Amino acid sequence: MIGKTTRLARLFREDGRSVVIALDHGQFNGAMPGLEDMPSIVLRVVDGGADGIILNPGALERSAASYAGRCALIVRVTGASTDANPCFDYHRQILTVERAVAVGADAVIAMGFLGGPGEAASLALLAEIGESCARWGMPLVAEMLIADPKKFHDVPSIALGARVAYELGADVVKAYGGGEPTFADIPRSCPVPVLVAGGAKSENLAEMARQAVKRGAAGVAFGRTVFGTANPTDAVRALVEAVHGKGG
Ligand code: 5RP
Repeated sequence: MIGKTTRLARLFREDGRSVVIALDHGQFNGAMPGLEDMPSIVLRVVDGGADGIILNPGALERSAASYAGRCALIVRVTGASTDANPCFDYHRQILTVERAVAVGADAVIAMGFLGGPGEAASLALLAEIGESCARWGMPLVAEMLIADPKKFHDVPSIALGARVAYELGADVVKAYGGGEPTFADIPRSCPVPVLVAGGAKSENLAEMARQAVKRGAAGVAFGRTVFGTANPTDAVRALVEAVHGKGG
């Protein structure tokens, strides 16, 4: 377990919390506003004090100078499905865990889908990746999504997903629901740290992060609400203060 312990210590600070910025949307949505120049956006969020970033394998080479030695790297290992695919819960493995070790990753992230036709394949893949992660000492972040978009923020469904991810070998869970008053039910049902995902927009990012942490989240993993703003560096600074406290 020493590999996982060492890598997780690069992702989570001593307070057990982490501010992760997701910059991996290009694989699914193309060049979204804010993600046109990857080395530049990576540098801006790292300058804000992000503890970790999520990148796709292809973005690593050109962005490494912006993050290496300054913040933890979480590499996405599932995908192969774009917004153009009507089967929302179709994901396949796009990178081996062995290769993630070779590129210097501190963790890998894989999707897990609940409640749709792709559930069994997706959860079986999550477990398979979990097995490789155990072999390579690589932490597994499971991003649990509910297949029915109407239930994206449904706390009981997300709590089920979080627990299933833990049972299948995840070391960290990334999930929606941070804005819900009952959010505490999610970390309560899941023994591993839960990072709150952002969504398309939030009126007050830092406040949502503060509330989620108060309700048991180990931090945030926000994307669009950070890279889509005029000043991503300031947005990250505000999140760092909300998650780690003043001077954090
Ligand atoms: C890419 C992702 C993101 O990592 C996830 O959705 C978090 O980003 P956001 O805060 O924008 O929801 O899965 O598609």
